[in-house]
Amino acid sequence: MERVKFGRTESLVSPMGVGTYYDFTWIAPAKILRIKKGAERKVDAIKAALDSGINFIDTAEIYETEPLVARAVKDMEREKLFIATKVWPIHFSYDGVIKSCNRSLKKLNMKYIDLYQLHFGSNPKKIKEALRAMEYLVDQGKIRHIGISNFDINQTKEAVSSLKKHELASTQMNFNVSHRNIEKDIIPYCKENGIAVLAYYPLAHGVLTEELPETKNVLKTIEKNHGKKTAPQIALNWFMSKYDFVFPIPRASNPDHVRENAGSMGWKMSQEEIEMLENSVKTLKGPTWSGDKT
Ligand SMILES: NC(=O)c1ccc[n+]([C@@H]2O[C@H](COP(=O)([O-])OP(=O)(O)OC[C@H]3O[C@@H](n4cnc5c(N)ncnc54)[C@H](OP(=O)(O)O)[C@@H]3O)[C@@H](O)[C@H]2O)c1
Repeated sequence: MERVKFGRTESLVSPMGVGTYYDFTWIAPAKILRIKKGAERKVDAIKAALDSGINFIDTAEIYETEPLVARAVKDMEREKLFIATKVWPIHFSYDGVIKSCNRSLKKLNMKYIDLYQLHFGSNPKKIKEALRAMEYLVDQGKIRHIGISNFDINQTKEAVSSLKKHELASTQMNFNVSHRNIEKDIIPYCKENGIAVLAYYPLAHGVLTEELPETKNVLKTIEKNHGKKTAPQIALNWFMSKYDFVFPIPRASNPDHVRENAGSMGWKMSQEEIEMLENSVKTLKGPTWSGDKT
């Protein structure tokens, strides 16, 4: 199983992870009515990721999927996993972050979280307080690393300078081959400072899973050079071919898709192929997200 260092930390992760955000059609019934339609299949999809060599799972307190992660990993050796979750901004107070972390640990049925992320930017005072709580949680052994998500470059720099005892391990942003805004500031900053990047919407929420007229020639060239690869495998491989500190986290809800996506690991595109792919998708539009600051 291929493992790489997560940014400048000593933690070892697969070159890609999986996400467990299933939109509000899952979150609302799960939260309000305790209805969890399709939970079994989602657990199977996470298990398919683990069987395919992926040890890196992203969830969040707001997603209502921490218990699904707990079920999927229950027979796994904890030390071999890398579990990331997030705290929602309404809990960004010192006590709020600690309470949220304890709740997440309970739902995950774990003694520690590998990566605890602030889900969104908020006002600077609240972020500082939340980060202070995160440092306390590292000292307590409840979390291993501190991360942020949806922070613009200035908020990212502020987070880095607010941390007094522990370093910022990662950020999580909307990033894919057709939505590369963060390459102008966040990516170079993270590279320089050893900060890992989790790429959400790595398949542009599905847009990049299809064989598009724009990418037809690229797919042919890649097939000639590397053997048959599918559109989602190429879109995910782009991250691994271009960067060693960026981790795509496509969502795991269909076990067949997860197995297919795992085929994006273990090979690399040439610089020429990378550029060909980037040029082919320049005009495509992926989804944006209210937290997308770039
Ligand atoms: N930090 C944040 O604010 C934030 C925001 C959004 C998302 N996220 C994280 O990022 C993860 C990924 O985001 P996302 O799920 O919205 O976008 P995504 O992974 O870019 O795209 C998911 C879509 O692609 C489809 N898909 C995946 N593999 C496929 C394949 N091999 N063939 C055909 N279709 C395929 C999925 O369908 P199926 O479901 O049927 O496989 C789904 O419709 C989330 O799960 C979450 O963990 C974080």
